[in-house]
Parts: sequence; structure tokens; C-alpha cells
Amino acid sequence: MCGIVGAVAQRNITPILIEGLKRLEYRGYDSCGVALHVNGKLQRSRSTSRVADLETQMGNASLEGFTGIAHTRWATHGAPLSHNAHPHFSPTEELARIALVHNGIIENHDELRAELTALGYVFTSQTDTEVIAHLVDHMYNGDLFDTVQQAVKRLHGAYAIAVFCREEPHRVVAARQGSPLIVGVGQGENFVASDAMALAGTTDQIIYLEEGDVVDLQLGRYWIVDIDGRPVTREVKTVHAHTGAAELGPYRHYMQKEIFEQPRVIGDTLEGVTGIMPELFGDNAYKVFKQIDRVLILACGTSYYAGLTAKYWIESVAKVPVNVEIASEYRYRDSVPHPNTLVVTITQSGETADTLAALKHARSLGMQHTLTICNVATSAMVRECALAYITRAGVEVGVASTKAFTTQLAALFLLTLTLAQVNGRLSDDEEAMYLKQMRHLPVALAAVLALEPQIMAWADDFARKENALFLGRGIHYPIALEGALKLKEISYIHAEAYPAGELKHGPLALVTEEMPVVTIAPNDALLEKLKSNMQEVRARGGQLYVFADVDSRITSGDGVHVIRLPEHYGLLSPILHVAALQLLAYHTALARGTDVDKPRNLAKSVTVE
Ligand code: M6R
Repeated sequence: MCGIVGAVAQRNITPILIEGLKRLEYRGYDSCGVALHVNGKLQRSRSTSRVADLETQMGNASLEGFTGIAHTRWATHGAPLSHNAHPHFSPTEELARIALVHNGIIENHDELRAELTALGYVFTSQTDTEVIAHLVDHMYNGDLFDTVQQAVKRLHGAYAIAVFCREEPHRVVAARQGSPLIVGVGQGENFVASDAMALAGTTDQIIYLEEGDVVDLQLGRYWIVDIDGRPVTREVKTVHAHTGAAELGPYRHYMQKEIFEQPRVIGDTLEGVTGIMPELFGDNAYKVFKQIDRVLILACGTSYYAGLTAKYWIESVAKVPVNVEIASEYRYRDSVPHPNTLVVTITQSGETADTLAALKHARSLGMQHTLTICNVATSAMVRECALAYITRAGVEVGVASTKAFTTQLAALFLLTLTLAQVNGRLSDDEEAMYLKQMRHLPVALAAVLALEPQIMAWADDFARKENALFLGRGIHYPIALEGALKLKEISYIHAEAYPAGELKHGPLALVTEEMPVVTIAPNDALLEKLKSNMQEVRARGGQLYVFADVDSRITSGDGVHVIRLPEHYGLLSPILHVAALQLLAYHTALARGTDVDKPRNLAKSVTVE
């Protein structure tokens, strides 16, 4: 993860770097820092608080300059402490000649550290990044561009770096391998950043650097060389990046706002869908969907749970076998590939390193039919996949994914219907019925969100607990998993989810009067089985918190608390039930006073493996 911004200009770049960091905080917010070239010296300011604190610090010190780099960190090597914050200097703070920021992981950092220590370099941090700063300083030959090209050959692992040198005041050099980096081309000034969004308002002329590229940024000109050191021309694209600076309006947190945006963004995601047609996924989709006879879904976290839900849908409606894999596992395990597989990646950001690597792994195994369900049209994932469905959730600021998940589900249901249609398993009547249900989703979701006051009352109970269990069956099992993830990531309550039938095979041992058990109980074919599982919990004193449907025939009583969702929604029910679970997690976290939008240890976009 981590966010990088750098600039070479003829004006004070402090506001550009600070603004860029604010927009990159979604990539990590453990610490942040800026280094500038000031009157022939390198100066820096670092903070283990948020970018707003760094801004105050720099304002107090009147730290201004024309050339510099900045960084917001998600800690991998070394705790989130001030001395581990980037930029790193070399050879020392007092004699600083090189300043460097880094996103990624250098796998041979131990070996390089030993080598540089033997040469007399003294390390002041536990980071793998400081190794690169000292390496560049050690190899410096008077030409930073050439030095960096030589230095990166010594690095194993993933990196995006930006570096500048005291001796070359109007130059920033940057390089990427395995971590994203873009160049922003300005008028007589140039920029580098992890993401085009960081430069919104500064320039919309963007170059997406390719693997192995090294770029030399100077005033009014730039050069790029590829992995073999050959000069290359990369296309400059006009990118209208979202600033992400959405107003909170009446809401206390972005997460709450994003939960309540769901009726609208689901409507947006389905806008223009007048009927089921493969072209929704790309011009060539019909041909591809005709050729494939199985689906492999690759994703992480919440997006993985969207994939699990889709497996139930696709197998029951389209009758196409689906395998869903956690991307970070799939990329490293021996699997049995099949060329007639549709590889579907699901990712909000389109930048998740594990999912990108899993996609490349699948392709390397000969599976060339690729589709992504993604929320960012300009992302690496959309560029890598042959077919795409862009969800229209809008910028999701809260680290806990909410509206991205439900729009992914809407897109995956469309994919289900499309595969069914291509396979001759969707009649015109069924198509019309499902489309009608999908179009009604915004209204149905709004009715679920209106349950907020009742859910808030439950959240007060949950806020006093340290553990919780979530139960679901069938298509609601992935929703139980998602509910537990939401609760743990923002309230720090330990939460586990199980298919309710599994309870007696082990987890039941955890159930006491202290254990709240959230149960998703829609009125579907598994309801009676689920009721038996609920009895098993009550018999051990467990407290049941049941999200039922209006007609689920479960009543509140001793140790059984029931909230009824307004209508039963058949196959699309997971989209409604998850909204209730999002609200439960949100209000529990609020009652516990955690930083809801930026929970500890996490980042919005996970660009390291
Ligand atoms: O951007 P992606 O959808 O690829 O991100 C995947 C996960 O990192 C993400 O869903 C994560 O689990 C969220 N914090 C969950 O709320």
C-alpha cells in the first residue's frame, strides 16, 4: 500500500503534496511525511498522526520548496513510529543527499542491509525502504536517473519509488515494479503519484507507467525508460479522476453516508440495463460466454464474499460450475487449469495486488477469458481484463466496503442472468421477472435502511461484547461472513461466521449467555433447518439477534430479538440483508468510539501482497 506524490515545479509545491497525500490516505494512514529541496538542502517533516497534522507542522515551520516528494504509509516493516515514516534520507539526517519514498516490499532487504552496514551506513529505521535510500546514495554517480536505473536492478520484490537528490535540485526520479505509479504531465512542471486521483485539480494529463519503467521528471520535460533501459514513449491520457472529496452532508461518517447511498448507486449501476445482453460486459462478451463452460472467481476480502454469493446464483440459475478462490491463496497453489474457464476478478479498487497477481497467474496457466467487476474504470484491473462491468458505486471513502459490495452483487446477478441466457436457461418471462426485481432493489433497500433506529438499539448491546457469532445458510452464508467482517474491522469485536448447520461441529462450544449470535433468517427453503440451529443456540443460553423477513414466522421472546425486513426478496435477498448488517456494525463501532472510516491497521486499497 502506501501513497506517493512527487513534484518538480517552479512554484511552491507544498499545497500540491499535502492535497495529494490527503487523497491518498485511503492507501494507508499509519504515518506520513514530506521532503523538500530548500536552499540547497533536503528538509523533511514527518508525522505519525494524520495528514492534517503534517500540514499544520509544515505551516508552522514555513516549509516550502519547488522540488519534493511525499508519502502516506501503511506499515509493513517496522512499527508506525516517526523514525519509520517516509521520506527516508541518506546517508544521514544531517548530511542528507538522497530522499526517497517507497510503496511495496523489498524481499532481499536483509541482505542489502548487511551489505550497506558493512559499507558504513547506519540505519535509523526498521523499514525495507531505508535500504533503497542508502543503496541509491552508495551508487550515486552524479546522474540520479542513471543511478536509479542501476540501483533497482539490485531490488527483489515489489516497489514504486520516488527519489530526489540534493545535487540535482530540479529533478525527481521514479520507478515501478509490481506497485502502481503514474506520471502527471503539467505545463512546465511534472508530477508523479500512486494514483491519478492524487493530482486531480493539478493535472489531468496522465501516463500509466508500465512494469519496470523508470522516469526522469524535470521542469517541462520527462523521459521514460523501460525495464531494459530503452527509451520508450508511453501514451498520455486525459483522466478525469474523482477527487474523492465528497461532502459528508448530514452524516457523521463516510461509511454511514455510503450505506445510505446504496439505493441510488444500485440504481446507477443498473441504469441503461434495458434487457439481458452479453454486450453489457464488453463487445466480445457473447463469443467468450459461448466458449466457456466454467467460472473461476478471484478476489479478496469483501469482494471475495461477493464472489461466494455469485457462486450460489450462477450455479443455481445458469447451471455453470463456479470455483471461488481467495486471490492470495490461488496465486501460490497448484491448481488444475482449464482453457474454457471464464476468469472473473472482483475488486472495488482495481488495484489490489493479490487479485492482480492471481489474474496474471490464471492467464499464465492458459486461461485467457478474463472479466472484471470493478468500481474504478481507470484502474489496472480494467486495463488488464478483456471484459469489464464497471459498477457505479462512486468513490468509496470508508475503509469498510459497503456500497461497493452491493453494487458488485448487482453486477454479478446480471452476469448470472447473462450466462443463463447464453446457455438457453433463461426464458423471456424469467428475464422480465428478474429485471423487475432488480429495478425494485433501490426501493426495497431504502425500506431496510429505515430500520436504522431498531438496529441502533441492538448496537448498544453489541458494543459491550468482545465476541459475536454470525449464522446464515445457503446464499446468506456469504452474507454472514460479510457481516462478521464488517463488525470486526470497524468495532474490533472478534466476530466469526458459520453456515448454521456447522455450529454443532465445533463452534457451539463457544456459545454461552455472553455470546450474541446474529442470525440471518429469510423466509427461504432453509428456514425450518435454521430454526433448529437457533434452538441449539438458545438451549446453551446464547442470545439470538435475528434478521428475519416479514413472513419468517419467528417471534421475539426470552433471549430472542427479532428485526423484520420489510419484504422477502428471493435470490436477491442477500443485497437487502447485508445492508442491515452494515448498519449493525456501523452503530456498534460508533458506540465504542472507534475511528469508523479509518480503522486501525487497515487501508482502503491493498497494493502489497
Ligand atoms: O479493492 P478490493 O475490492 O480488491 O479490496 C479487497 C479487500 O481489501 C476489501 O474488500 C477489504 O476486505 C475491505 N476493507 C472490507 O471492508
